[in-house]
Amino acid sequence: MAAPHPDKTPAPSDDWWRGAAIYQVYPRSFADGDGDGTGDLAGVRARLPYLAELGVDAIWFTPWYLSPLADGGYDVADYRTIDPAFGTLDEAEKLIGEARDLGIRTIVDIVPNHVSDQHPWFRAALAAGPGSPERKLFHFRPGRGEHGELPPNDWPSQFAGRTWTRVEDGEWYLHLFTPQQPDLNWAHPAVREEHEDVLRFWFERGVAGVRIDSAALPAKDPDLPDFVEGRDPHPYIDRDELHEIYRSWRSVADAYDGVFVGEVWLPDAERFARYLRPDELHTAFNFNFLACPWDADRLRAAIDDTLAEHAPVGAPATWVLCNHDVTRTVTRYGRADTGFDFATKAYDTPTDLTLGTRRARAAALLTLALPGSVYLYQGEELGLPEADIPRERIQDPMHFRSGGADPGRDGCRVPLPWTADAPYAGFGSRTEPWLPQPASWPAYAADLQAADPGSMLVLYRTALRLRRTEAGLGDGRLEWLPAPAGVLAFRRAPGLLCVVNLAAAPAALPEHDHVLLASGPLDAEGRLPGDTAVWLRG
Ligand code: NOJ
Repeated sequence: MAAPHPDKTPAPSDDWWRGAAIYQVYPRSFADGDGDGTGDLAGVRARLPYLAELGVDAIWFTPWYLSPLADGGYDVADYRTIDPAFGTLDEAEKLIGEARDLGIRTIVDIVPNHVSDQHPWFRAALAAGPGSPERKLFHFRPGRGEHGELPPNDWPSQFAGRTWTRVEDGEWYLHLFTPQQPDLNWAHPAVREEHEDVLRFWFERGVAGVRIDSAALPAKDPDLPDFVEGRDPHPYIDRDELHEIYRSWRSVADAYDGVFVGEVWLPDAERFARYLRPDELHTAFNFNFLACPWDADRLRAAIDDTLAEHAPVGAPATWVLCNHDVTRTVTRYGRADTGFDFATKAYDTPTDLTLGTRRARAAALLTLALPGSVYLYQGEELGLPEADIPRERIQDPMHFRSGGADPGRDGCRVPLPWTADAPYAGFGSRTEPWLPQPASWPAYAADLQAADPGSMLVLYRTALRLRRTEAGLGDGRLEWLPAPAGVLAFRRAPGLLCVVNLAAAPAALPEHDHVLLASGPLDAEGRLPGDTAVWLRG
């Protein structure tokens, strides 16, 4: 096990999360410790020195609990058991301790909106029948139509297709996602008690934070009325009842100095900020920045809006370029439409990976220079592109529920390449990994990149190291500087400037002392070429 890096001891302050760099591990695809084709906790433990060397402050694990994996683990059958494909609870506890020894905190993922249809509560509800107390933990209803043959309402699914499934006795149950993910009834006190107990369970095991899945969805209008466009409040998105739930969660977290990051997809800035009031969630993902096209004016507006919406509640912003649900950054930025929208994902979209990679390098320096905390998704630091998964190998329910039109999310979930010159690019498997790796994967391997000063990995390592040593980075303020059209320039502290050129023509740099880090070479006149970013001492 590597010794902690001298500048990597955990910040003693309680507000480490305000400026943290947090690395998202999708355990199934990070590293395979036992060689069976699926990533696991043994694989993560073996690679902790890599994460320490990268310079991240925390790891967020997407769900690692017992799960039939109908939705990549977001269908939890038991929160207190690690899925045997990943390891054991004992290994998870060891991992949390070993990471902490390296200065890395652990964040787990809790999915309050739904459980797996294999969860004991749902199995009991099915067995107990209509009208039973067990069914009251979910949303069971008789159907409409003469024989109850129609679903109880018309709510659209988050994943296309129906939101109701009929069971043998004729009742229907609600699932905003797949039928294997029945929605819980958050008006029921047992649902609240159980989740607060799960929070305590993981805080007791030393986790520093919790990511809250689909955080704006759990509360439902008790009448489950049909959806009417524009009617306020919405029957299941962003309902006021949620705030009381999260206040109660906050009091649980406060007892452990634990922190929350909410997955809150809401276009309304004021409604979004309500989740970040001082007695609710500490932070929430900023998807408006992620979805924003590679365009200076629009990015600047997204940054300004984000900072403005966070300011009144005193919460730090978060910045994220990709995660396990969205098209990988180098691919997105290499397309004609550089924004992200689930609705427009399609097969055969022309992509220029050289251009996308150049922009992703610049975007990395932009993102890591913004005020607040930042989330990196495994493989982002390697510049991995979105992979084309042969249709017969796809596992993501989003693909199937779209009738095959949506390529789904597996393209960003492919097992990582660690060693160029090893079977399966060093992922660790003896047999083919659960998702196939593209032929190009060895060229992205971490070992090759570690030895290449021009690689994406070295760029991320250097930037994250500077983020630790430069007091002006992380939490704090940003001051925009005058800049030509297509150029973003801002000051983070008296001696620290970030300039990003999104225009085609090279841009003159503002007055400065020297270049701290650049995403690509300056031109012969010392100007910043297009799609390039630089951090300056000035
Ligand atoms: C958001 C998660 O990020 C995604 O992967 C999952 O499918 C849905 N929530 C449902 O839990």
